[in-house]
Amino acid sequence: AANQLWGGRFASGPSSIMERINVSIGFDKRLAAQDIAGSKAHATMLANQGIIQASDAEKIVEGLDRIAQEIAAGSFTFKTELEDIHMNVEARLAELIGEPAGRLHTARSRNDQVATDFRLWVRDALDRLEAGLTDLQSAMIDLAERHTDTVMPGFTHLQTAQPVTFGHHLLAYVEMLGRDRGRMRDARARLNECPLGSAALAGTSFPIDRHAVAQALGFDRPTANSLDAVSDRDFALEYLGAAAICAVHLSRLAEEIVVWCSDAFRFIRLTDAFTTGSSIMPQKKNPDAAELVRAKSGRVIGSLNGLLIVMKGLPLAYSKDMQEDKEPVFETDDTLGLCIAAMAGMVRDLTPDAARMRAATEAGFITATDLADWLVRVLGLPFRQAHHVTGRIVKLAEDRNAKLAELSLADLQSVEPRINQAVFDVLTVDASVASRTSFGGTAPETVRAAVSSARERFL
Ligand code: ARG
Repeated sequence: AANQLWGGRFASGPSSIMERINVSIGFDKRLAAQDIAGSKAHATMLANQGIIQASDAEKIVEGLDRIAQEIAAGSFTFKTELEDIHMNVEARLAELIGEPAGRLHTARSRNDQVATDFRLWVRDALDRLEAGLTDLQSAMIDLAERHTDTVMPGFTHLQTAQPVTFGHHLLAYVEMLGRDRGRMRDARARLNECPLGSAALAGTSFPIDRHAVAQALGFDRPTANSLDAVSDRDFALEYLGAAAICAVHLSRLAEEIVVWCSDAFRFIRLTDAFTTGSSIMPQKKNPDAAELVRAKSGRVIGSLNGLLIVMKGLPLAYSKDMQEDKEPVFETDDTLGLCIAAMAGMVRDLTPDAARMRAATEAGFITATDLADWLVRVLGLPFRQAHHVTGRIVKLAEDRNAKLAELSLADLQSVEPRINQAVFDVLTVDASVASRTSFGGTAPETVRAAVSSARERFL
C-alpha cells in the first residue's frame, strides 16, 4: 500500500529492502518527548496566528499529551512501516483525533522538525553530561583534599621525574574535566537556536511566529537562515567533539588507574566492587572497569569521525544522509554517561597506598632538579652548568648504588668544591614538594589552596 503521508503520487509501497534501509524508528524513538514538545509549540503558534482553528490546536495538544502518556506507559506501538518517530506520532494522532491531526504539519516539514527535535535532545544530553562531570569532579576534589600531603613520583616519559603530591595529580584531571564542561556549555549556547518554521528549506508563506515557538521551547532565538537550519548538524558535531575530548581524558585517567593497580606500582587498590577475578588465576583482581573506560573512548572518537564523514560532502539543504546523525550521538550519550559514572565510582572506591607511593619516590634520583636549583640559587651557577654538575653527581651516586641524600659532603665536593652541608636540606622528597610553591605548583600548601579554588570554580 502507498504511504499514508505522501501516498498521493505513489501507486505502491516500498520494497522491503527500501523499508529496511530507510527505517529509523528503532533509534529515533528516543526523540519522542522532543518531537511531542515541538509539535505542541508549533500547533499552539499556528492557532495563535490564526493559521488553524483554536479548537483544532486544542485537540492536537490533548492528543499529543495522550501519546506522551502512551509512550511513557509503554503501550504505544512503534511501527517500522511508519519509518520514523515523526510519522509514528502523527499517524497515532490521526487515530486519536481524526481530521485536525492533518493540520499539524502546516508550515512545517520533517526537515525542520527533526532538526528541532535533535537540538532539544542534544541540549538535554549536554546538561546530563555536565551534571555527571560535576559529580566526578566533586569525587576527585574530595580525594585530592585528603591527599594534599601524600607524595608520589611525578613522571615524564613514565620515567621518574620529580616528586609531586597525589592531590596535585588528581587536580590535574579536575582541570581537564572543567575544560570539558566549558566546551559543553559553549556548544549548548551555540546550539540554542530554533530551526522550526524553516520548513523544508525555504521558509513558508504562512504568517508563522518563529520567535514565539523558539521561546516556548526554551531556545534563545530562531535560526537565521532556513537553508542552514535544516542542513546544519554542527551542534551534534560539537557535542561529539566535546565528548571525544572528554572520553580521551577519561581514558588517560583509566590508563593511570590500570598502571597504579599493577603489582609493579601498587599505588592504589580497588575493592571487589570495581574489579573482576580471573577464571583460571585465583590471585587476580583486575581493573576491568578502568580498562573498559579506556577502551570505550574508541566508540566516542569513532562516533565523531563517523558523523564528520557523513556530513562532509552534503550539498544544501537536507539529504537523507543526515538521518545517520542520531545513532553516533545516542551511542555517545550512553557510552560516555556510563564511563563518567564508572570513573566516579572508581575514584570513590580506590584506596591510595601512601607508603608505596613514597617508596617509589626513592627511585631515580628524583630530587636531582632540586640539587641543580640549589646550585643556581646558593652558588650562583648558571642553570646549564648546574645541570651538568648535578649530572656528574647523579652518575657518582649511580656508581655507588646510593641515593643522592646518601652521598657524603666529601663526595659532593669532589664534583663541586663549593657545595656545603646546607644542600642536604633540599635533597629530601618532602623538602622538594614543599618548595614547589609557585602558583599551580605541587607544594601541599599550594594544593590546599588549589582544592578550595577548584571547589569554588567547579562545584
Ligand atoms: N527520519 C528523518 C531524519 O532523521 C526525518 C527527516 C526526513 N526528511 C525527509 N525529507 N525525508 O533525518
